Amino acid sequence: MSAPEQRRLIFQHIDEPGYTNDIACYLRNGGYEVLKKSIGRKPEDLIAEVKKSGVRGRGGAGFPCGVKWGLVDRKSGKPIYLIVNADESEPGTFKDRYIMHQDPHQLIEGIMISCFANNVKQAYIYIRGEFPHGARILETAIAEAREQNFVGPDVLGSGYSCEIYVHRGAGAYICGEETGLIESLEGKRAYPRIKPPYFPAVLGLYQCPTIVNNVETLCHVKHIVDMGGDAYTKIGTPNNTGTRIFCVSGHVQRPGYYEFETGKITMGQLLNEVCGGPLPGRKFKAVIPGGSSAKILKFGERFKGKTRAGEEYDWGVEDVPMDFDSLGMIGTMGGSGGVIVMDDSVNMVEALANINAFYAHESCGQCTPCREGSLWMKKITSRMVHGEARVEDGALLKSVADQIPGRTICAFGEACSWPTQSFLAKFGDEFTQYPAAPKSLRPNGATELI
Ligand code: NAI
Ligand code: SF4
Repeated sequence: MSAPEQRRLIFQHIDEPGYTNDIACYLRNGGYEVLKKSIGRKPEDLIAEVKKSGVRGRGGAGFPCGVKWGLVDRKSGKPIYLIVNADESEPGTFKDRYIMHQDPHQLIEGIMISCFANNVKQAYIYIRGEFPHGARILETAIAEAREQNFVGPDVLGSGYSCEIYVHRGAGAYICGEETGLIESLEGKRAYPRIKPPYFPAVLGLYQCPTIVNNVETLCHVKHIVDMGGDAYTKIGTPNNTGTRIFCVSGHVQRPGYYEFETGKITMGQLLNEVCGGPLPGRKFKAVIPGGSSAKILKFGERFKGKTRAGEEYDWGVEDVPMDFDSLGMIGTMGGSGGVIVMDDSVNMVEALANINAFYAHESCGQCTPCREGSLWMKKITSRMVHGEARVEDGALLKSVADQIPGRTICAFGEACSWPTQSFLAKFGDEFTQYPAAPKSLRPNGATELI
């Protein structure tokens, strides 16, 4: 079966010739019309549309956005805040940056509709520190929207007021974890908070109810309110509604951004047809389907089981539909949509050493298993690529990785151990070759990396 056509909702205009990121262009293309209509509606109706749509968070966790909004404590008497998580740092993920650069007003319109729906008077865009250009674009776009009365006091003469502030991070991955982000926004070190019992929906920014949504998710809100929650559910597949943006990087002929109905395209269609297949003379070896924290898949492995609907499946990696549930069923995750492809030229020990170096650098250091474990995993894989591995290193690496998940404050503990666990489970032979082999005999003639 050949790959479906792209279904562009978020990227509808982004690559059109002449489409620019200024407000005049956005308005020419129907911009802010949905906000105008929303302001005349009841906020609870807008929330109901988002709930009906079933849209799941596009930051990575896939938590239903309408459910999240429904959990907000509206009786506390405290202000409700909205935070846009634009701290896009997951390796392999680069969709939010593109949205902010190319179509910032789509995000601002989504923010304003969401704020109006949830009676939010102050919204913050927490943007990754390494995106200075994106921050400038957003500042300009907010100023333009304010001039036209889409943002600020008395929006469109409705009596409703809402400000949007851009806050730049300073280069820490952990600031993308929502409670670390909140601490950072409060001016503190970004140590994630323990959750449960209290999620930001109840106690978030300044101990007030807070909604934290990803950039892409808020853009979806605009389209949901425009077409209605029911119509939105017709896009994609049940429980995986709407479209999904895939950021494909690595060893394919045409890496890039692609937007498809969720669950309507398989991994094989995406990589072979849409992305043009492997590089000349190469074969696919492995793929990480949802940002570096997702468990790696090995081409050639098979997955058998039953779907939620009770249908039996027997899939190779190429057959897996690219949606939250299917990727979850086979033991990995759709995560942030960052698809990292590796061909048979890749030395898996080097690849893991690279990932481990990242996590060791980014652990906030608050919990011992994560702080020490991520460092140990980095040290072990680093000495492997430097030709200094010890005989026991393969087993030691596994032992360290196995002792982190479930013992930490935030999901970073899982995120940093899953790559090591899954690389060892699927490519263990490449790791066991290391201790004894002189450098010249190591797989693919490993070079020093770190
Ligand atoms: P999570 O599953 O703990 O939470 C998801 C969301 O649902 C949060 O906003 C949380 O507050 C909310 N939530 C869950 N249960 C709730 C309840 N009972 N009451 C109220 N709210 C509730 O996942 P988390 O830690 O927020 O995100 C992990 C994911 O983030 C990873 O799977 C990874 O894919 C992704 N990620 C994405 C990055 C990026 O750059 N886009 C960077 C790092 C990780
Ligand atoms: Fe910090 Fe890691 Fe603990 Fe998360 S799991 S709080 S990143 S030390």
